Amino acid sequence: MKQTIPRRAIVMGATSGIGLEVVKVLASKGWQLGVAGRRDDVLQQLKDEVPQVMAVRAIDITRDDAPQRLNGLINELGGIDLYFHSSGIGYQNPDLDADKELRTVETNAVGFTRMVDAMFNYFAQRPDHQGHIAVISSIARTKGLGAAPAYSATKRYVSHYLECLSQLCTIRRLHHIHLHDIRPGFVRTPLIADGNRYPMQLDPERVAQSIVRGIERDRSVITVDWRYRLLVAGWRLLPRWLWVRLPIATK
Ligand SMILES: NC(=O)c1ccc[n+]([C@@H]2O[C@H](COP(=O)([O-])OP(=O)(O)OC[C@H]3O[C@@H](n4cnc5c(N)ncnc54)[C@H](OP(=O)(O)O)[C@@H]3O)[C@@H](O)[C@H]2O)c1
Repeated sequence: MKQTIPRRAIVMGATSGIGLEVVKVLASKGWQLGVAGRRDDVLQQLKDEVPQVMAVRAIDITRDDAPQRLNGLINELGGIDLYFHSSGIGYQNPDLDADKELRTVETNAVGFTRMVDAMFNYFAQRPDHQGHIAVISSIARTKGLGAAPAYSATKRYVSHYLECLSQLCTIRRLHHIHLHDIRPGFVRTPLIADGNRYPMQLDPERVAQSIVRGIERDRSVITVDWRYRLLVAGWRLLPRWLWVRLPIATK
């Protein structure tokens, strides 16, 4: 990544889990930060604890006013070089509770599109067209997971959308906008603290370090960690007729 000092970033979904750890890693590297999420009290606490956090904004990405609020945060920081999108929800939902499925789509697909489009336009309109957009999808994007249909499908959507935007950069000659699709395996965060059993759990702090390293090296796809890289390579080899017959669940 081009070193502009001070480097400035916004982390959306900074109140918990991977986003919170990415805030800490970026702060340790001297980045100036704006942080967002829905929980204002947690954001204020983060600002008190991390000196590099210069600005906070309560933002709900499922709301229409979210891009406007994000813009206010960017202005308060005086511009940004990196938008990091960690906001997401997910459930195992084999009973297809409609509320869970639709809230997942609203957050992980609609909210993601709302925010990432706003950021793409922001970087495209900058005179130098320079910027990084990093979004956490998941290894759940690799194949359709029957235990979590909306989660798996929205993560596929995120990955696919980022690929579209990468090609759009070519079409519009926006060669200095960099898109990063981040695909972790299971990470020990509140998202998977639902009483189910998740194997091969990764430490969120180490995941955040790998993610930031991948962005600095300008990797367009960052799968964390190597064991999950092997796992998804194996999954991809399975034909659809075989995949749908596998009872993959983590209960
Ligand atoms: N943990 C895993 O095993 C795993 C694996 C692969 C991918 N991921 C992905 O990594 C991302 C982060 O997950 P995590 O594990 O760190 O979970 P987490 O600890 O539950 O954090 C989720 C974050 O998303 C924010 N968020 C949720 N809904 C939002 C909304 N409507 N508007 C704004 N922010 C919202 C939350 O903030 P507020 O509650 O303050 O709004 C929180 O900061 C998610 O996209 C998840 O799908 C996680």
